[in-house]
Amino acid sequence: MTNAEAYDRGFAHLSSHTVGALLDLARRSRAPRLLDVGCGTGVVTAAALALGAEVTAVDADPVMLEVAARRHPYATIRQACLPDLPFEDEEFDAIAGNFVINHVPDTAGALKELHRVLRPDGTIALTWWKSDEMTATNVFADAIAAARIPYEPPPRPFTANDTPARFTELLRETGFREAAVDTVRWRHQVDLDAWWTDIVQAGGPRFRMIADQPEETVERIKAHYTRLAQPYAHEGFPVCAYLAHATR
Ligand SMILES: C[S@@+](CC[C@H](N)C(=O)[O-])C[C@H]1O[C@@H](n2cnc3c(N)ncnc32)[C@H](O)[C@@H]1O
Repeated sequence: MTNAEAYDRGFAHLSSHTVGALLDLARRSRAPRLLDVGCGTGVVTAAALALGAEVTAVDADPVMLEVAARRHPYATIRQACLPDLPFEDEEFDAIAGNFVINHVPDTAGALKELHRVLRPDGTIALTWWKSDEMTATNVFADAIAAARIPYEPPPRPFTANDTPARFTELLRETGFREAAVDTVRWRHQVDLDAWWTDIVQAGGPRFRMIADQPEETVERIKAHYTRLAQPYAHEGFPVCAYLAHATR
C-alpha cells in the first residue's frame, strides 16, 4: 500500500465528512465547471462528478494524483501547487478545497489566485481543521509526547489566518463577497488499530516521524496511543472543522 492509498483508507474517510456541505453552494448554483483544489485521492471529485459537474482536480503531490486519476477517469487531473494555478482567468464556476488551505504557507496569495480563476458570481468553499479540537490526530502528538520522544512539530504557517474572523476578513480583502465561516463538529468513528496503521503509513507532514523511529520506539508510541485513544473507542474521536464560503 502506498502512502496515498493509506491516506485514502484512513484520513480521506475522516475528511469526507465535510464534502456534502462543501459542495452545497456549487450544487445550489448548478455550477458546471468545478475545480477541486488540493484534491488528494479525490473524495470531493467523486461527489462533484456524482452531481453532474465537469471536474478539474489539482494537487501538489503526484502520488495522490495517481490514485485520483485511476479512480476518477472522468475528471481532468493536473498537478498544480497553490498559490499558482495553470488556468486562465475566470475558468471555473465553483471551487472546492477540502483541507488544503491549511497546508499553503501564503494564504493571501492562494486566495488571490483562486479568485482569479473563478468567474464573477462563482462560488468558493474551503475547509480547514480547528486544530485544538482535532482529537483524532492530536492523540498521535500526545502519544509522541507521552513516550518522551524529542520532536519538533513542523510550523503551522496557517495559524495566523485560521480563525473565522480573520479568514472572513481575508476573503473580503481578496474581493469575495457574502463571505462567512461555519463550524462543523462530528465524531470520527473508526477502529483504533486501523486508524493507527493508516495514519502512520500515510505519514504526512506531522506524523511521518513515527514510521522513521526504531521499531521499539514505534511500539512505545503505539502503547501510549492505545491508552489515550481508548476513551474514544465507542463514540469516536470528537473533531471540528471550519467551512468558509463566499461568492466572487
Ligand atoms: C489533507 S489532504 C486533503 C485531500 C482531499 N481534499 C481530501 O479531502 O481528502 C491535503 C492535500 O493538499 C495537497 N496540498 C498541500 N499543499 C498544496 C498546495 N500548495 N497546492 C496544492 N495542493 C496541496 C496535499 O498534497 C494533499 O493531497
